[in-house]
Amino acid sequence: MRKLVVANYKMNGDKNFFSQVRKNFKSIKVKDTDIVLCPPFVYVPFLKIKNKNVSIGVQDLTNEISKKCTGQISPSMLHEFGVKYAIVGHSERRAIGETDLLIANKVEQATNNGIIPIVCVGEELKNSSLDVINDQVKIALSKAKGEVVFAYEPLWAIGSGEIPAVKQIQKVIKQIKLCAKKIGFDIKVLYGGSVNESNCKELLNSNADGFLLGGVTLNISKFLQLIRSVDE
Ligand code: PGA
Repeated sequence: MRKLVVANYKMNGDKNFFSQVRKNFKSIKVKDTDIVLCPPFVYVPFLKIKNKNVSIGVQDLTNEISKKCTGQISPSMLHEFGVKYAIVGHSERRAIGETDLLIANKVEQATNNGIIPIVCVGEELKNSSLDVINDQVKIALSKAKGEVVFAYEPLWAIGSGEIPAVKQIQKVIKQIKLCAKKIGFDIKVLYGGSVNESNCKELLNSNADGFLLGGVTLNISKFLQLIRSVDE
């Protein structure tokens, strides 16, 4: 199965950095991997790359429908700029108040406008119950009108250098897929949280369909190395 590798640049980068990203990804050759680059909104036009294996994503999406919404960017505008994916419900956004219901509305907006949402789910602490994940999945899919991708990101693994055991990731990915299947969705599930160029190969044994990456994407050569390993 093709792998999906998603770069979440968060609030990092500048014109110079994204010019370098564009230069490196314009001509990247991969066999079985699709790459999604999610820069901050303003850099989206910089990453319009003519390479069928490289797509543009954003890191959030509004759930507003009304045009009377100062400061927001509509999903249809993003679609017009070639945006194909949107990360939705990242834990850093849940931490500033995004609820499962709001995330479901964002999923609805994305799928209504030809954008594939990448919904982040995961438990907060190392020993937290995993039941919360089923609720996150079910509510996120409750208003979905098309393809949805999930990313299993245990909060405690994000940016910490700590990673769950491969078996544990495998178990949670299976749980997420089963939960989605029961409500009629056949989904891809990525793993995210402290993935780098050295551990990615082993982490693929978890049956993850790819990765959601943060820190490693800021070093372009390590990110390219990671892609080569995943694509092997
Ligand atoms: P990390 O971030 O790879 O730096 O842990 C992942 C994420 O926040 O999606």
